[in-house]
Amino acid sequence: MSGDHQVFSNRVRDPTQLLDISTARVANTTPSDETAAQRAPSESLSVVFDDVSFAFDDHVVLDHVSFRVPTGSLRFLLGASGSGKSVLLKLILGLFRPDSGTITVNGQHIDGMPEDDLLRLRADIGMVFQENALFDSLTVNENVGFRLYEETRMPLDQVRERVKEVLGFIGLADYIDRMPSELSGGQRRRVALARAMPTRPNLLLFDDPTTGLDPLTAATVDDEIVKLRDLEKVTAIVATHQIRDAFYVATHQAVRTPEGVKIVTAEDPNTTPAEFMVLHEGRILFEGDATELLASEDSYLKEFLYKTLPPW
Ligand SMILES: Nc1ncnc2c1ncn2[C@@H]1O[C@H](COP(=O)(O)OP(=O)(O)O)[C@@H](O)[C@H]1O
Ligand SMILES: [Mg+2]
Repeated sequence: MSGDHQVFSNRVRDPTQLLDISTARVANTTPSDETAAQRAPSESLSVVFDDVSFAFDDHVVLDHVSFRVPTGSLRFLLGASGSGKSVLLKLILGLFRPDSGTITVNGQHIDGMPEDDLLRLRADIGMVFQENALFDSLTVNENVGFRLYEETRMPLDQVRERVKEVLGFIGLADYIDRMPSELSGGQRRRVALARAMPTRPNLLLFDDPTTGLDPLTAATVDDEIVKLRDLEKVTAIVATHQIRDAFYVATHQAVRTPEGVKIVTAEDPNTTPAEFMVLHEGRILFEGDATELLASEDSYLKEFLYKTLPPW
């Protein structure tokens, strides 16, 4: 059976692409007791930054940053380009180490954690990097099932079943055997999102998932985030410089109907919980919900909102 695995990486034309997807390794196809025990201690908080600072030489990116992301919540990380959103996500993954302060992910302190333990930790994190492109020489099935095919011994028919399930979730089950070149830009981005899901990670990190998409196509990606929140109840951190996306997600809701899942405008904002965090000049300038963000009197926030939101 193992001979059937690790076949796709040979067909990826640009090997640097593999770096993105394989920073996480899947330790086991089924959670072991050990993993369950490791998760147990602080089940209620998925990510904790406590007084974290990080600089590239003398360029300070994060300056004594503290925040907590409760398990099962959706957190938008907003900020202009260059404000440190991608760096913050890479700190969560242990790809960068903080200069000071502590970072806890899924109940484990990760600063100072040996690389082997970090690999195990990353197996529970699904991520969609800003620069994540699909492997253009692989089918949609092979792209989405990549980590299961390459890094686990799950039987191939089971992998395909799981891929189908995930593609069904994003409404693209019929596209399972297509090549990326046969998809629209929005469909490709949704498949890239779906690629983080087959291993059932308990924390999802999205880095600017709608960059470069027109507003209507971006909304189809945002719909997937709405579904993850309302139907799957995953913990997710979404970094974006498009405040528009955050407000879309905060005002829409996924509902199951006899005809399938529908995305509708939420009547009651309490049914669409999303927390916002704005990074500015190395600090968290704002933390709160959509209503509080819109009501903020801070001059930078007002300018940020004014410049990036359409007139209501
Ligand atoms: N590998 C790196 N080496 C040096 N500086 C970097 C590196 N990555 C990011 N930076 C700098 O850190 C700051 C934050 O970058 P980043 O987190 O990518 O911003 P954002 O994702 O919010 O657009 C920027 O000023 C960027 O130029
Ligand atoms: Mg970025």
